Amino acid sequence: MKTSIKKAILPAAGLGTRFLPATKASPKEMLPIVDKPLIQYAVEESIACGIEDFIIITGKYKRAIEDHFDTAYRLEEKLRTSGKEKILAELNKLNHINLAYIRQRTPLGLGHAILCAKPFVKDEPFAVILSDDVIDPEYPLLKEMIKIYEKKKCPVIALEEVPLSEVHRYGIIDGKSDGNVYKINNLIEKPKPEKSPSNLAIIGRYILTPEIFGILEKQEAGAGGEIQLTDALRRLLKKAPIYGYLIEGRKRYDAGDKLGYLEATVDFALKNKELSEDFKNYLIEKIKPLI
Ligand code: G1P
Repeated sequence: MKTSIKKAILPAAGLGTRFLPATKASPKEMLPIVDKPLIQYAVEESIACGIEDFIIITGKYKRAIEDHFDTAYRLEEKLRTSGKEKILAELNKLNHINLAYIRQRTPLGLGHAILCAKPFVKDEPFAVILSDDVIDPEYPLLKEMIKIYEKKKCPVIALEEVPLSEVHRYGIIDGKSDGNVYKINNLIEKPKPEKSPSNLAIIGRYILTPEIFGILEKQEAGAGGEIQLTDALRRLLKKAPIYGYLIEGRKRYDAGDKLGYLEATVDFALKNKELSEDFKNYLIEKIKPLI
């Protein structure tokens, strides 16, 4: 598949505090949904859109991510000799992609994490994918965003409507809609409900243009004392239009949150060919006395 977007940045340096103690010494990006870690869902979603090069921004205690995408000789040998070809093929199916790892030395926020990739992205447009925002693998959200980018040649960010009581957890936009596409007028990171311009939240899929790097270089810390991508995008708005793409009728799971993670696990297990029947029966039995 030919696309103008070849590279994706996957920030994975966050501390995962909402999932402690599980994330004390292992990366939250390695939390599995059924049998695949969050970051692999993000990589597979990008591959389906023609992205070939991945820049993963890591930090302390994140080495398991590199090991996950590396060859595991002894394990593979064992699978080969015991005839487990199917599992072996599953393990090797991502061997063709190009991966680079950059260590963000201090966790200074999402904007700073993206800036760390500047020398490797140079002057191309690129995608940013936050792997704790999990999207149904059958829903080609990123593909649709790339199409909008190709028409407008401007940054495109994914949006979802959230209850006002939750706006403090997101970047929130103000904009004018034409169907599902919004022309953005303003963006605010984690506003209080009474100061929120809308209930349209930014979710973790962005198509960005390289101008953002120059802005991020000068960006001061914002919400939570971190260098925020949302603040940099607000400054970019003064120079170029930014579009939002509203996902409608599809579910996005905040898998960095315990409830969202459980919802994703249940829904993905119910769609899994090997598990769905038994798991569904288990759930029915479990729920019967409660209703
Ligand atoms: C980040 C962004 C925020 C966005 C959110 C989506 O926040 O800063 O604008 O709405 O991802 O998941 P974080 O979840 O890292 O606090």
